[in-house]
Amino acid sequence: MSKLTLDKAKEILSKHTTEAHLFTHAACVSAAMGAMAEYFGEDKEHWEAIGWLHDVDYEKYPSTEEHCHHVREFLEPEGVDEEDICAIISHGYGITTDEVKPESNLEKSLFTVDELTGIVHAYALMRPEGMDGMSLKSFKKKFKDRKFAAKCNREVINQGIEMLGLDAGVVMQACIDGMTEHKAEIGFPGEGA
Ligand SMILES: [Fe+2]
Repeated sequence: MSKLTLDKAKEILSKHTTEAHLFTHAACVSAAMGAMAEYFGEDKEHWEAIGWLHDVDYEKYPSTEEHCHHVREFLEPEGVDEEDICAIISHGYGITTDEVKPESNLEKSLFTVDELTGIVHAYALMRPEGMDGMSLKSFKKKFKDRKFAAKCNREVINQGIEMLGLDAGVVMQACIDGMTEHKAEIGFPGEGA
């Protein structure tokens, strides 16, 4: 295929996913990936598409033994490029698979924002303003409080930030900015999305 578009990513994910929270997660990761692409001066829509599609095998194969192991069988028949398939598989590196190590900035970003957006989302849900006006400083407090959104793995996030070689604040701000830009699509209560 030529470049994976966001529309195509959405079409493919919808074939394998029905649960609303998984689409919410897809929208969060996609939004954050778009902001990371902007940071690196890369192709925003392509990164958003990868973000949208990254958990394509999760609903059918949620276990740590299987998640990411079925990406290829789902995406090859769709004509998705090998590079994109590897990028998606790499987000489970050291967690569900050792097949592909995150090497590119896209892969490292995906690995990091997959978990990090979960904390941003949880924080937004408890704020009356949702994403609006979320400061990096207040978010960092939530990040440090490991009891908050406890299932979002801080070790994985820190490992990802280290791989990226960026200041944690840069990555956190990108998640906040991207998710604020896409708040209607992510769909917070009261947003009327
Ligand atoms: Fe994910």
